[in-house]
Amino acid sequence: MCGIVGYVGAKQAQDVVVEGLRRLEYRGYDSAGVALVADGRVQVAKRAGKLANLDKILAEKPLPASQLGIGHTRWATHGAPTDRNAHPHTDCSGRIAVVHNGIIENFATLRAGLEDRGHTLVSDTDTEAVAHLLEEVLRDGATTLTAAMRVVCQQLHGAFTLVVVDAQQPDAVVAARRNSPLVVGRGEGENFVASDVAAFIQHTREAIELGQDQVVTITATEVSVTDFAGDPVELREFHVDWDASAAEKGGYEWFMLKEIDEQPQAVSDTLLGRFSPSGQLQLDEMRLSNGELREIDKVIVIACGTAFYAGMVAKYAIEHWTRIPCEVELASEFRYRDPVLDRSTLVVAISQSGETMDTLMAIRHARQQRSRVLAICNTNGSTIPRESDAVIYTHAGPEVAVAGTKTFLAQIVACYLLGLYLAQVRGTKYGDEVAATVRELRKIPAAIARLLAEAEPVRELARSLVGARSVLFVGRHVGFPVALEGALKLKELAYIHAEGFAAGELKHGPIALIDEGVPVFVVVPPQGRDMVHDKVVSNIQEIRARGARTIVLAEDGDDDVVPYADDLIRLPKVPTLLQPLVSTVPLQIFACELATRLGRDVDQPRNLAKSVTVE
Ligand code: M6R
Repeated sequence: MCGIVGYVGAKQAQDVVVEGLRRLEYRGYDSAGVALVADGRVQVAKRAGKLANLDKILAEKPLPASQLGIGHTRWATHGAPTDRNAHPHTDCSGRIAVVHNGIIENFATLRAGLEDRGHTLVSDTDTEAVAHLLEEVLRDGATTLTAAMRVVCQQLHGAFTLVVVDAQQPDAVVAARRNSPLVVGRGEGENFVASDVAAFIQHTREAIELGQDQVVTITATEVSVTDFAGDPVELREFHVDWDASAAEKGGYEWFMLKEIDEQPQAVSDTLLGRFSPSGQLQLDEMRLSNGELREIDKVIVIACGTAFYAGMVAKYAIEHWTRIPCEVELASEFRYRDPVLDRSTLVVAISQSGETMDTLMAIRHARQQRSRVLAICNTNGSTIPRESDAVIYTHAGPEVAVAGTKTFLAQIVACYLLGLYLAQVRGTKYGDEVAATVRELRKIPAAIARLLAEAEPVRELARSLVGARSVLFVGRHVGFPVALEGALKLKELAYIHAEGFAAGELKHGPIALIDEGVPVFVVVPPQGRDMVHDKVVSNIQEIRARGARTIVLAEDGDDDVVPYADDLIRLPKVPTLLQPLVSTVPLQIFACELATRLGRDVDQPRNLAKSVTVE
């Protein structure tokens, strides 16, 4: 959720921090603010609304020159998105400024205590208490901001990334984290802290992961990290291989459009380097031995939102290829139902950001029960892969639009790789069978490229449906999660009522929603899966008989659907299990175009944040 940046170096801090916030705005856009240390004082500018509002006041009244600053884009939790609640927050004396991501669960008690001791808090946020606690600890004799931060962090419950500056220590930015993301960027004569690397990759690609309960102090030339007790910890450095331009819009109207177009690359990059010269699958980041993988008797996939739908696709592939039972569960529900887990359960956590709190809490629960955890993640250095036993990275590159597109396809590819790898290790598929599926996977980027090139009729269809009040999506087998994903994209982007259903479930209730002219997308399985294919063709007829406008996605050459399709979107022929990699694409394009026509902010839909770091 909220985006955070801190900078110390020779450049103008205001420029570096605001530019960093621009690259993090997808994390939250309820308000934005910066604090710099200049002329022996903390100088703050902040505004409700998008970063553009902050830009405006800074243009009218720039802050003084400074080489050190912090900034924040907010996704509101405590307190409405107003100027007053925008970060940074300061203490009574105006000496300290704090920005925060997360929720400080004991803030009410802390606030009451501070008020009893004479502090005046001016916002409704949980964050402001931290500024006043730091003020007290410094007043009581802490010699540095870092020392004060350690003391204060030990009083806080919940999740937090905190970044603070002190007017009396104008060469350092201090930050701390617990259950919330923070990375350090190490430059030449300058250093950074941020919620994620996107904030600083235009300056440096050398980064340091921060572990749980750690405090970092950056000056222009040094980075030092300790735990909350003050003991030094080993630095875990990594190189960011994302190109800075990958996080730029590159002439597109929306990041989402660019990211949809990047899908052939995302799929091929996720497949890259996974095979030995003899064609054997090899997963380098798989830190689980073949012996451990042979012991697995159950797979549970946990994830949220779009990543959950990728997990649903994984279930079909993993069970079919490995014969290991596979469950898929919403991460937010997982630990509350007391799941049956043991050493022979493989828990697969799928997360684009690697920071989703529901998923993080679920994997911690799984590890406490001694299960092995494998992460499928797009973000190097993030918490979920760091806390997992193994990881498969999706090499989709940075995804800036809040709605997941290319990372969804890359997650599905990573799930296939996992399924095939398990099948290879356990011998449930012959080498030539694995190789044949891999050959089919390698054809997918070209198939997606074709869909992208032929997308105009899909956009036209979207334009014809701007007045639609409700859109339904149905599918069977792996088409079911695709239907759910199509509906989610439309809800997120266009704010239109949309539902996805298993085609077979329609007659058990949802068919009552169908009325004259209601648009219903139907994802038809390839003809190769004949039984399911024929059932879906019957479902289309049932839907149409009730007056719906049927929008049918069917593979090339499938003529069975033609008489029942009011609109027909052709898909390249691919094997049944791989079809989500192509059938999802027109649904993304449809949602993006419809939302654009409705005047929505496609990249930053209302109420949503890219990385959901609260439960
Ligand atoms: O970063 P994650 O993959 O863990 O995020 C999970 C969901 O929050 C995410 O997929 C969300 O549903 C997106 N807005 C989908 O477009």
